[in-house]
Amino acid sequence: MALDSRRMRRRIAILLSGRGSNFEAIAEAVVDGRIPEAEIVAVISDQPGAPGLARARDRKLPSFSVERRPGSSRKEHEAAVARILDEARPDLICLAGYMRVLSPEFVGRYRGRILNIHPSLLPKFPGLHPQRHALEARESVSGCTVHFVDEGTDTGPILVQRSVPILPGDTEESLSARILEQEHAAYPEAISKFFERSSNRG
Ligand code: GRF
Repeated sequence: MALDSRRMRRRIAILLSGRGSNFEAIAEAVVDGRIPEAEIVAVISDQPGAPGLARARDRKLPSFSVERRPGSSRKEHEAAVARILDEARPDLICLAGYMRVLSPEFVGRYRGRILNIHPSLLPKFPGLHPQRHALEARESVSGCTVHFVDEGTDTGPILVQRSVPILPGDTEESLSARILEQEHAAYPEAISKFFERSSNRG
């Protein structure tokens, strides 16, 4: 019986480059069952010193550092990442602060199975520094978006959004912190939704 339930588990891979607080939020949600019947099968970072990778090791999760060495191509780097992924056989790949643009080939290989989180209410403010741009545009509301990854920059179909107010006196830091809190709830919610949908599809 134990073997059966293990076999049924949904397999999640995480790609990250930095702090890894979204990874932690996902890992916690797996542990406490908000993402039911799931396990994290690989945490991959392009930055060997990423704090998120250290957090993954602390949790005794399979962790991999795949650095892009000077002179090597994006293709070679992505091939090394794909080798690990294909060995780990994830049902879902979550970008959690992964600071590389994926090639159309990579996206195509895992189409419909890669999610990303972005700290704005997409389609507003794709790309870098969305919190700063929201403040500069004098928006009154911002938030975060979990979306499928396609070939564009933060353009794929949206799965979950959560909004936060922009308050008088907000700085990029204070707004980012308020959004981040919502990110930590939004990503687990989106992952559960993804798995619910895929099990409904049979
Ligand atoms: C988050 O704000 C996420 O939305 C963006 O990069 C940041 C990653 O933070 N894509 P962390 O590494 O998960 O703490």
